[in-house]
Amino acid sequence: MQLAAAGHEVTALDNYLRRQIVEASNSEPLIESPDLVERSRIFEEAAGRTIDVVIGDCTDYQVLSETFARCRPDAVVHYAEQPSGPYSMSSFDAARLTINNNLNSTFNLIWAVLEHAPECHIVKLGTMGEYGTPNIDIEEGWLDIEHKGRKDRFLYPRQAGSLYHTTKIFDTDLLWFYVRMRDLRVTDLMQGPVYGVTTTEAELDPRLRPNFHYDDIFGTVVNRFLVQAVAGLPLTVYGAGGQTRGYLNILDTLQCVDLVLQNPAEAGELRILNQFTESLSVNELADRVRRAGRRLGLDVQIGAISNPRKEAEDHYYNPVHTGLLDLGLKPHLMTDDVLVEMLQLVCEHRDRIRHEIVMPRVRWGT
Ligand SMILES: NC(=O)c1ccc[n+]([C@@H]2O[C@H](COP(=O)([O-])OP(=O)(O)OC[C@H]3O[C@@H](n4cnc5c(N)ncnc54)[C@H](O)[C@@H]3O)[C@@H](O)[C@H]2O)c1
Repeated sequence: MQLAAAGHEVTALDNYLRRQIVEASNSEPLIESPDLVERSRIFEEAAGRTIDVVIGDCTDYQVLSETFARCRPDAVVHYAEQPSGPYSMSSFDAARLTINNNLNSTFNLIWAVLEHAPECHIVKLGTMGEYGTPNIDIEEGWLDIEHKGRKDRFLYPRQAGSLYHTTKIFDTDLLWFYVRMRDLRVTDLMQGPVYGVTTTEAELDPRLRPNFHYDDIFGTVVNRFLVQAVAGLPLTVYGAGGQTRGYLNILDTLQCVDLVLQNPAEAGELRILNQFTESLSVNELADRVRRAGRRLGLDVQIGAISNPRKEAEDHYYNPVHTGLLDLGLKPHLMTDDVLVEMLQLVCEHRDRIRHEIVMPRVRWGT
């Protein structure tokens, strides 16, 4: 919507995988939203700009090939993946779907670009989760290594904490291979968890809001805490709560994508940027939600529960994230005002909160 509003010709391709697996997992977003075709119509009415919608599956090469042959895009933003860590860890079928979907989407995209638009700039959504939590500083994608007196530059070591995050590592390796072999131009955005309930274009009509999932499988920890605060449930800190991640506002996600589209990678370049604006531990996040909740008269309790994941609960975390700032990113930070605004939206929809889908249903070890 942001790109269309800025005057670009935009085609959106989606197969509703997210909606299907959300339903199959007995999950549900807090706020219902119309399907993509309907959202595109609503946007056109409100903004006077068209978004061409294709309902199709990126794992079907024919679909991507035809779409690329028709559009011959200058750039493609690749979001089309199964994006939930817990979902990818929930069963054999879910793990296989995650592998098949994410790797085949990326593989087909690479070939559609090679076949129909070799100059096209691929902007790929990766994740900070590719790096894991190493006991050294995390660089932006690359690490200079000196070994037995010789030096070289390699992809920074990756060690993900879920199968979903591991598919993102495979994606990066596939892209890097074709950058080396076929001179693709690629930007891989290592994004942290995104929060936020609105964007400039979503302000045009409430039905254009971003999705808001709050369950244990599709909701991020931020959304889960906000819903728990409103529902009077203790905030479920997993384990010791020292798990630290880099977060960013959805407004900044859009800014980052826009900035890299305006400043494309070179042919034969895999540019990796760490996309987040501030690091917070789960305990710090819980404290912030409690403080914001107080402003709305909510009595927010915090309750640690045993950690369903296998992850370090107290660790070093110092990732570099200067690349996007250098391109001009102006961060919107997670202030109390921002959290209060999100809590207010949750309060408006409190009748739809389902308590039974907030507690962890997926455990890593089983
Ligand atoms: N939201 C976050 O906090 C976050 C953080 C880091 C990275 N990411 C990445 O950003 C991207 C977008 O995440 P999101 O949270 O908006 O998820 P999302 O599920 O809302 O968006 C992904 C979209 O891709 C579609 N899709 C999936 N597989 C497809 C396929 N084979 N063919 C066509 N469409 C397909 C889904 O239906 C969905 O609409 C994902 O790649 C995710 O891994 C998200």
